[in-house]
Amino acid sequence: MSAAGIVIVGGGQAGFQVAASLREAGYTDPVLLVGDEPGLPYQRPPLSKAYLAGKTDAEGLNLRSGSFLAEHRIALRPDTRAARIDREARRLILADGESLAYDHLVLATGARNRALPVPGADLANVRQLRGLADADHLKEALAAAERVVVVGAGFIGLEFAAVAAARGLSVTVVEAASRAMARAVSAETSAFFARAHEGWGVRFVFGAGVEAVVGESGRATGIRLAGGRILPADLVLVGIGVVPNAELAAEAGLAVADGIRVDAFLATDDPAISALGDCARFPSPFAKGLTADGTVRIESVQNAIDQGRCLAGRLAGRPAAYGAVPWFWSDQGRHKLQIAGLAGPEDASILRGSGDAFSVFRFRDGALRAVESVNRAGDHMIARRLLAAGTPLQPEQAADPAFDLKALATARA
Ligand code: FAD
Ligand code: APR
Repeated sequence: MSAAGIVIVGGGQAGFQVAASLREAGYTDPVLLVGDEPGLPYQRPPLSKAYLAGKTDAEGLNLRSGSFLAEHRIALRPDTRAARIDREARRLILADGESLAYDHLVLATGARNRALPVPGADLANVRQLRGLADADHLKEALAAAERVVVVGAGFIGLEFAAVAAARGLSVTVVEAASRAMARAVSAETSAFFARAHEGWGVRFVFGAGVEAVVGESGRATGIRLAGGRILPADLVLVGIGVVPNAELAAEAGLAVADGIRVDAFLATDDPAISALGDCARFPSPFAKGLTADGTVRIESVQNAIDQGRCLAGRLAGRPAAYGAVPWFWSDQGRHKLQIAGLAGPEDASILRGSGDAFSVFRFRDGALRAVESVNRAGDHMIARRLLAAGTPLQPEQAADPAFDLKALATARA
């Protein structure tokens, strides 16, 4: 009997990477990507940056060409939704009832945007941004809009706000928390970006609860804040975080807790099923002291790619625990934020640099845990090396502009 091979659910960053890395690692049995979006696997980051701003076209988003997939014998079934897993029979059941046999199943289902839980959130010009289709709608909407309200001052909200402001639109960002990007960055970095956006004409309302989206004839005309204040809008962008797509796993009886639970090898509790990327919760050495059980779910391109490589290695016979340094970036206007490592809101901040180019070194339990670099790419690369090697760094050294961080990073490498 011929091998069923590896079936991957989700043709995004992580799913594609597993497929490509399996071939690189010498895996020869069938590899099938089942994805519910149309077209080839593509990159999401430009959707809220260059693509939204009209600086790159849709083809430029593709991770690889159709001929790359063909050459590497990666079969792709776009527009195809997986509905259920029959673990006993090792079959994936598709939404149309067809079932596919697998030797190993990879769940790379990503995450979806959290819905705004208020009346009026379903009005026509209330939008979210996750996929290419969303970005295309938004590009069109931006061309006609004058007043934009963004709900959520996270990465998506702020990147969108920067593009809208650069087009000369009136932009107001409403954020539930007391500062921007509070989930991921220090108060110092939040303050810098809030000031930068204000410089581009963006207004912020922090600590604000959205009570309703108000509208007429099926279209939003504004949002109502708790307390009754109305912010007029002809376009509302909701960017209030994501929810992992873990239902397939949960319904199949796999462990799920804000993500599909996997071990350090990205295996679920079924040895024939693995999970990775935005949908997976895994133990990370970088989560020490950050989460109660030392596990995290990371929403980033780096995580999707590095986990893809790691998992492909195991499936091709070379198992290794996943331990890559997490890193991330966000482009807002002319400013580039890069983050290496993982920090929590309580972690201490040590500032290096000033003005438009600085880094915030984050310490937890006396050890370096993360570095946020704003327009300081050199610091970011050094930080990745320091964190990868676990090189000790004292807060006083980080704060001392004369201390040679590069020498420290290279000496230990
Ligand atoms: P995804 O890329 O979301 O892929 C999952 C795929 O699975 C999707 O196509 C989904 O439709 C499909 N799927 C889900 N369920 C099923 C099913 N049942 N059947 C079939 N298919 C299914 N990260 C950064 O590091 N830097 C950035 O600057 C950055 N910017 C971003 C900007 C935007 C607008 C967005 C949306 C994300 C951004 N990210 C950024 C995050 C990054 O894109 C994600 O972390 C990454 O795409 C995760 O890859 P993934 O494969 O796990 O999930
Ligand atoms: N009203 C206003 N703000 C809210 C509300 C609400 N009801 N609920 C949540 N928020 C705020 C959060 O406090 C947070 O600051 O929305 C923000 C969401 O920020 P992120 O968690 O960064 O999520 P988002 O910006 O949607 O980004 C989603 O895109 O760039 C990628 O990988 C990144 O996974 C992330 C994804």
